Amino acid sequence: MPDSVKKITSKEFISMKARGEKIAMLTAYDYLTATIFDQAGLDSILVGDSASNVMQGNANTIPITVDDMIVYARSVARACKHSLVICDMPFGSYQISKTDAMQNAVRIMKETGADALKIEGGEEYIDTISCIIRAGIPVCGHLGLTPQSVKAFGGFGVRAKETAEAEKLIRDVKLLENAGCFAIVIEKVPAELAARAAAAVKVPIIGIGAGNDVDGQVLVSQDMLGYDPSFHPKFVRAYANLHDIITKAVQDYQSDVKAKAFPNESESY
Ligand code: KIV
Repeated sequence: MPDSVKKITSKEFISMKARGEKIAMLTAYDYLTATIFDQAGLDSILVGDSASNVMQGNANTIPITVDDMIVYARSVARACKHSLVICDMPFGSYQISKTDAMQNAVRIMKETGADALKIEGGEEYIDTISCIIRAGIPVCGHLGLTPQSVKAFGGFGVRAKETAEAEKLIRDVKLLENAGCFAIVIEKVPAELAARAAAAVKVPIIGIGAGNDVDGQVLVSQDMLGYDPSFHPKFVRAYANLHDIITKAVQDYQSDVKAKAFPNESESY
């Protein structure tokens, strides 16, 4: 990557929306993956609490801790000279009190080098989000299917299909914009509602399972790289099949070891 490489800032996200440039975001949780994404010129990397699922094998994002997120986000931030790095505040790190939320937000920013935080929820957390933004920390909102509330929702189904929840989502995007959020992720809602949300605010709406009439897209990288053939929700497009590529590489390596074909002379000292 050239020395002149430009870091994307949270302010730049708003300019990108203003000039109609779509924003591409993927999750990453480790240094080498983040290095590849950064050098590929990806706009933004989300160190999502989806690490709970794809890195730790949990069924949801409830168990992951601030300490865990700090390890992942620090590794990603170290790699990124271009991509804007956003770190999720995990479940329990901002729900207890504003003071606790501020302490966790400051700790994540100090110890990781991330550029911004992401917080799930609208009106319920607006005071906390405002407080964190006032402290000089850029915050990305997250509405619609907010996976930290999976137990309250009763599953990972499409959200805001009913009028009351849809209208609350539109109110929440405006509240988050007024509070100073620089972007808002909207997950798994009808495309028409996400388009309405994008038209209602100047900050970019980053969709996941929210159709194409929004300002950008985010996917979990393991999903779009095809690590898990048993997980293919409608909103994911697999751009690679790393499951099969890695399986073949491992099997070829094992065959070579057993046949004494690896290492050869040029691979030995
Ligand atoms: O944690 C995560 O990866 C996320 C995305 C699904 C938006 O929040």
